[in-house]
Amino acid sequence: MNKKISVIGAGNVGATTAQRLFDKNYSEIALIDIAEGIAEGKALDILQSGPILGLDNYISGSSDYNITKNSDIVVITSGIARKPGMSRDDLLKINMNIVSEVTQKSLEKSPDALILVVTNPLDAMAMQAYKVSGKKPNEVFGMAGVLDSARFTTFISQSENTSVNSISSNVLGGHGDTMVPLLNNSYIGGKSLSESINKETLDQLVERTKNGGAEIVNYLKTGSAFYAPSASIVKMVDAISTNSKIILPTTAYLQGEYGIKNLYFGVPAKLGSNGIEEIIEYDLSEYEREELKKSAEAVNETVKVMKNL
Ligand code: NAI
Ligand code: 2OP
Repeated sequence: MNKKISVIGAGNVGATTAQRLFDKNYSEIALIDIAEGIAEGKALDILQSGPILGLDNYISGSSDYNITKNSDIVVITSGIARKPGMSRDDLLKINMNIVSEVTQKSLEKSPDALILVVTNPLDAMAMQAYKVSGKKPNEVFGMAGVLDSARFTTFISQSENTSVNSISSNVLGGHGDTMVPLLNNSYIGGKSLSESINKETLDQLVERTKNGGAEIVNYLKTGSAFYAPSASIVKMVDAISTNSKIILPTTAYLQGEYGIKNLYFGVPAKLGSNGIEEIIEYDLSEYEREELKKSAEAVNETVKVMKNL
């Protein structure tokens, strides 16, 4: 397999993603940043890890999109990261313009590429990339649910003293305070969370998951999470590159699924070489449906604000 993957934005998330992809050794990687020298330097540094790891893989970095030519997947991480006290929506205008610009520049060089959006506020930025790209809905999608579910699984694992490998959790909805960690469609040892864990503990786990990004921002002070986010991106890139058909929580364009229309939103989706190959509809409890509806309203508000900027 010889894929080409471009990562736009060579900050914490982009550079760590590039490094993880390089280490996987199945793709040529192009790393782009607007700040002169940053992508070049980081790509060269990663390239020089090749002899140590025994990898003849190739990565290049630049501010010039020529290096991204003929990419199979473009991962958009360029933007401004959330600072303490700053809401995801504060970032809206700056990141909206950045996402529009980098989507256009990337597609000029790789018109057939699939687009994976990471920049926040995620659901709105995926919508923006979709609109600007003129591509089909299955070809533009976002990463958030893999990360939010990984956080949920981590906290369940710690609370219940159970391996993360025996837990399968799902967090759907918008990537923000209204995200919806599912209790009936998430499992520990094959039993649903609502059957296995008492309500008080579950409430705490759900709350911590919803604040998972902010918890890390509060520790780091000058930036946001990037190790688990980059691992989440690579999990999605792997699924597409290997045509694995794995079902992962994915920010997808909904056209009536879950009762939501014309909105990017986190739902389970089957990923393969065409990007999103199917959106899976879970049987949700009344409470979960209501929570998803609230989350969709919050995302819709952001999209409306974006339209007026
Ligand atoms: P960062 O600040 O470390 O890196 C962002 C990079 O984008 C910088 O190097 C900057 O120079 C570059 N950039 C800015 N404008 C650009 C342009 N027009 N063209 C090319 N590059 C440009 O930020 P970090 O931590 O890497 O986060 C990146 C984005 O990802 C943020 O919006 C953050 O909120 C988001 N994020 C989303 C997650 C998710 O679950 N969807 C998880 C973690 C971060
Ligand atoms: C996170 O959840 C900042 O969206 C990013 O860590």
